[in-house]
Amino acid sequence: MNTKPLLRLLADGETHSGESLAESLGISRTAIWKQVRKLQEEGIQVETIRGRGYRLPAPMDMLSEDSIREGLTASLRENISLAVHDRIDSTNSDITRRWQQGEAGLLVSIADCQEQGRGRRGRPWQSPVGKNLYMSVGVSISRGFTGLEGLSLVAGLAAIESLGLPEEVRPGLKWPNDLLVDGQKLAGILIELQGELEGAVRVIVGIGLNVHMTDAESVDQPWTSLSLALPGESWVRNRVAASVLNRLAARLDTFEQEGFAPFEELWNQYDIFRGKTLRATSGDLSGVGCGVDDAGHYLLETGQGVQRISAGEISLRVV
Ligand code: BTN
Repeated sequence: MNTKPLLRLLADGETHSGESLAESLGISRTAIWKQVRKLQEEGIQVETIRGRGYRLPAPMDMLSEDSIREGLTASLRENISLAVHDRIDSTNSDITRRWQQGEAGLLVSIADCQEQGRGRRGRPWQSPVGKNLYMSVGVSISRGFTGLEGLSLVAGLAAIESLGLPEEVRPGLKWPNDLLVDGQKLAGILIELQGELEGAVRVIVGIGLNVHMTDAESVDQPWTSLSLALPGESWVRNRVAASVLNRLAARLDTFEQEGFAPFEELWNQYDIFRGKTLRATSGDLSGVGCGVDDAGHYLLETGQGVQRISAGEISLRVV
């Protein structure tokens, strides 16, 4: 049962009678009712207004492949292989499957909902339907595994830059790559790598960005969304997705040619750890945050000199 056409009609948040919906879709009112039940089972709150019809509690910002494409730069539009899914296990897994099926080039998978969204350190990533952006980019980078240090920082930088957030909301990056607004997590990045030690490595950059989410029961850290942080703006997921993709593709090109060095200064402008006393989550390393070096290592002034920390090695917390 494809409920998408019905959802598109309801997306304006207005009340629609069963009769008018049935007529628009060329199906019976009973079929409409069944589809409404299905949408409700999928977690979409469709309200039944007695004697008047159905409506969503608020307008829904629908994902659309065409609209995302429209927002891309001409060269990206030509080169990208974009798949937009209603529902998927994980967009990162989708990229892996597409590679296995022989797809090549710059692959992008975006979903309206993930059933097994993955976060870093094996945590789940809450991926409710119709709310946020769940997006993965699959690309081959010819730098070998060792040349990929700093890649996840570049992805975080590209994402935060693409949003054009005003200073007042204090946009920041928490090393290595969480996007924060006023100290609350707005987006997370999960990088997965496949390939040889030397030569081309297949890289999946998975980005989970909270756009319209206003409640989440089981998120275990302070979080926010674009709509919560900047309620005055009307955020459109298709536009946000296109801006992130435009910036990310350009930044990945530069990274492949030149590594992390060109991004050191830009990244440090967003560093939320600078000047703070930090402690590594494992071991007894602590010190004051001094930003990243030209390879993307985090620098800690420990009192006995500066320690360089590699992403993936340990994580840092403000004391
Ligand atoms: C984190 O823990 O901060 C990383 C979260 C990454 C979530 C994104 S959503 C799109 C992509 N698909 C996944 O399963 N995970 C990433």
